[in-house]
Amino acid sequence: MRVARFIKSALRRRDYPAGSLPRVAFAGRSNVGKSSLINCLVGRKNLARTSSTPGRTQLINFFSVGDRWMLVDLPGYGFAEVPQRLRAGWGPMVEEFVTEDPQLRLVVVVVDARHPPSDLDRVMVSWLGELGKEFQVAATKIDKVPKSRRGKSVDVILESLEVPSVIPFSSVTGEGRGLLWRSIESCV
Ligand code: GTP
Ligand code: MG
Repeated sequence: MRVARFIKSALRRRDYPAGSLPRVAFAGRSNVGKSSLINCLVGRKNLARTSSTPGRTQLINFFSVGDRWMLVDLPGYGFAEVPQRLRAGWGPMVEEFVTEDPQLRLVVVVVDARHPPSDLDRVMVSWLGELGKEFQVAATKIDKVPKSRRGKSVDVILESLEVPSVIPFSSVTGEGRGLLWRSIESCV
């Protein structure tokens, strides 16, 4: 069963949901398509709120999936128009979660298949590596890359992030959904 439901939003560790379910977090640049990817993954249109306005997701949002694991939507990073007071809060909020949540099993780092990863994407991936956290890179919006260029786009991401694998994904067509599920299932 993959029934997903919203549990709560939290800013600090003391507010994270109780229980011992393994957690899988989703991180990525603001507006990259993270909430859409989450919705596509669990087959729900509006579980995680999506918008064309970057910086919409500003708290850590917890969802349960099939009452077996928790999906965690992290606020997007690196969007200049998000007010400074919110940007200043992002670092400590995400850092506390990633470094201190004992239930975290995997971080899915969502990047845009159309562009080379940003410096912040590279910082995120190398930070996770240094911390020894499990992570998987997913390149979303692959539907927007012409078929003839998809292989090249993925290669650019592999090389830039120096990671062993990237899952091409599309929230529009559902491409990559099975692969990402398998990656998650192997960690929870
Ligand atoms: P914030 O929470 O604001 O940081 O954004 P987000 O990363 O959660 O992005 P969101 O899922 O809200 O999507 C941003 C925009 O990209 C929306 O207009 C989506 O419709 C569009 N989008 C997301 N994923 C895809 C995709 O796979 N393909 C295409 N073509 N568009 C997408
Ligand atoms: Mg979002």
